[in-house]
Amino acid sequence: MCGIVGFYGKDKAKEVVLSGLKALEYRGYDSSGLTILSKGEMLTSKKVGRLSNLKSTLESNPFNGEISIGHTRWATHGAPSDLNSHPHLDMEENISVVHNGIIENYSELKAALINQGVSFKSETDTEVIPNLIAKAFTGSLLEATLKATSQLKGSYALCVVSKACPEELVATRYDSPLVLGVDEDNNYYIASDIPAILDYTRTVFFLENKDVIHIKNGILKIYRNNVEISPTFTHITWDKDAASKDGYDSYMYKEILQQREVLLKALNQRLKGNLDLDFSDFNININFLLSLRNIYIVGCGTAYNAGLLGKYALEKYAGLPVNNEIASEFRYNCPFVNNRSLVILMSQSGETADTIAVLRKVKALGAKTLAITNVVGSTISRESDYVFYTMAGPEIAVASTKAYTSQIIALYAIALHFGLITDYIKREVYENKIRELLTLPEKINEIIEREDEIKKLCLHISNKNSCFFIGRGENYYSALEGALKLKEISYIHCEAFPAGELKHGTIALIEDGTPVIGISTINRLYKKTLSNLQEVKARGANIFIIASADENDFSSLSDNIFYLPESDDLGNGILSVIPMQLLAYNTALELGLNIDKPRNLAKSVTVE
Ligand code: M6R
Repeated sequence: MCGIVGFYGKDKAKEVVLSGLKALEYRGYDSSGLTILSKGEMLTSKKVGRLSNLKSTLESNPFNGEISIGHTRWATHGAPSDLNSHPHLDMEENISVVHNGIIENYSELKAALINQGVSFKSETDTEVIPNLIAKAFTGSLLEATLKATSQLKGSYALCVVSKACPEELVATRYDSPLVLGVDEDNNYYIASDIPAILDYTRTVFFLENKDVIHIKNGILKIYRNNVEISPTFTHITWDKDAASKDGYDSYMYKEILQQREVLLKALNQRLKGNLDLDFSDFNININFLLSLRNIYIVGCGTAYNAGLLGKYALEKYAGLPVNNEIASEFRYNCPFVNNRSLVILMSQSGETADTIAVLRKVKALGAKTLAITNVVGSTISRESDYVFYTMAGPEIAVASTKAYTSQIIALYAIALHFGLITDYIKREVYENKIRELLTLPEKINEIIEREDEIKKLCLHISNKNSCFFIGRGENYYSALEGALKLKEISYIHCEAFPAGELKHGTIALIEDGTPVIGISTINRLYKKTLSNLQEVKARGANIFIIASADENDFSSLSDNIFYLPESDDLGNGILSVIPMQLLAYNTALELGLNIDKPRNLAKSVTVE
């Protein structure tokens, strides 16, 4: 999704901003641009398509400076085009703005500005901002920006520069993230995401909503509620190398393999010698748990899917009923949330707009909030009451893999801990479950070593238009994730269904050769799943099965059965998805598609 990079310093700004934008490419974008400011001269260049298009345009122009703001755009208002790309300038071309987020009242603002004689070049919501600043400008860029932002409804992270203020840069945010970095030479960096500036500094300050950065004549000031504050800087410890492909052809493949190493980090960080888990950073005690009226697990996409396995574990091993909710819906409809609710927010990035909106809403309703996120310092981590970091390392591929399995591990750990402290499960059960989780990396390795078995399946799937994933119980939850993985990177239409539900309508879509992937790791439901698979086979489906090692015999149905290494219910929830991740990856590879940056998608969805 859109990315912002800003620089104010002694070096050449163009190089810093271009390298920052390069580092943000993984988030998904369709155009890019920058403004460079030097001694009252301003150059703005923007290009649709890859960042290399912008770079080639700039190559022929030696103009450089000490201040620059840049942007990668993921179109929301107006198609990808040079004109709709950022930065956007006011009508007189004095003020330049890059913007992440959505201005919800832009039509009204635009109409009012047009009435005042302003003309617009783009179809974007952003273009109202430089024009509002221009209208408010009476000599102070800071004041004009504040007057303009006070009229905005929606979300924004902004960087603003002006020809009239050649030594200034203003930046601010509301509901869209922004960080400030400072290096030893007092060069200042601004970015929507840390990777953009990690080559230059590890010292960052996370802006709160409505914080304002004003850099003038090399001096930095930060304002909160109109009062200057001293920023508290955070040292970023993770390595940018973690965000490189390490010789693999795609981040997705690297991240699938990495699950062998990172899966248990979330668990190990809390594990003590006697297999107890240390949750001393959570102020959640037995009384609170027993007083709960409801638990919600909320997220979007893969994070939502991970939450479903959390429901299974919390219900089975902690005896706590759980509702799973999609964030974009729940933010507008959560009538039963109150001060006896626990809301668990799932988000790899910690910046997903809908999930943040839920967090703020449920906090206002008195609920306790627990974030399960991968990104230290993200908005969701900072605003939640408790945080469980998944420690999976940077996940770059748009299709989430290691973040998903790490999220499930975190939820399992929480469920087992809650179950133990409330005496819902016996210590023996608890210890057996933890011991089994500890064996998962080698079992994942075993699956990865058998990747060739999965590659064969891809040949049956890559030329199909449609594919179905079915399972029962928690296998249905894994089916949802398998279908999402395949559809988002192969563009094959995929649907996941509870196996018993197909015959209530969807079975009409099964025809000769339609691939149906059945997941069956639950012994007590073996016969039911078998019948459901028989129903689709009778209608011509080409069946593939992912089954647990101790599973009953499916050989009458299919020659394509992938047996998982032996595990328990919790382990199977994780193991069953690994072949589906490999299936999605190898199918997209077979189709020659862009695995890490699938069309129309962005890594982090920071708009509603
Ligand atoms: O950063 P988040 O976990 O909040 O992101 C949520 C979804 O946008 C994300 O999981 C998305 O569904 C992935 N592309 C799926 O692979």
